[in-house]
Amino acid sequence: MSSRIAVVPGSFDPPTQGHLDVIRRAARLFDELHVLIVHNPDKEAMLPIAQRLELLEESVREAGIEGSVVVGSWSVGLLVDYAEEVGASVLVKGIRSQGDVTYETPMAVVNNHLSGIETVFLLADPANSVVSSSLVRQVASLGGDVTPYVPAPVARYLAAAGPSDF
Ligand code: PNS
Repeated sequence: MSSRIAVVPGSFDPPTQGHLDVIRRAARLFDELHVLIVHNPDKEAMLPIAQRLELLEESVREAGIEGSVVVGSWSVGLLVDYAEEVGASVLVKGIRSQGDVTYETPMAVVNNHLSGIETVFLLADPANSVVSSSLVRQVASLGGDVTPYVPAPVARYLAAAGPSDF
């Protein structure tokens, strides 16, 4: 039987507890999981991609996530090009609310039209339903404590950097 490879794409700016939960659960469902930082042209980034990559790798490692998990980044074309390159047949996204369904549905449909890839939605743990990278960015930039919402490596990085850096 061929192995099932999936991609968890996102901006991860910064990675949150919600992201880690989806990664942990997806890693149990697939033989190989690629967690991919992708540039979102519609969003102004807080952290450079190299920094997000370091934080995501450290967060996945520290969380002791089981399974075959590869962390990478992609900025040279369509997400489905990356999926094709690594032999992935599934994209995995976390859903916290009806708003996420509305946001994700067009992307899932277009990605399917582009390459036949399927998108699997994992329902977020209610504990993470209010956690978003954009909220974390806002609170961190105003000097608030984001420790409950982000993995420890991200909390350490944001605390060391201080609000004026964002
Ligand atoms: O975490 P985000 O910002 O909601 O993730 C969105 C992302 C980066 C996955 C999405 O913008 C994306 O897939 N960008 C890659 C460009 C692409 O392939 N676009 C066409 C299909 S939607």
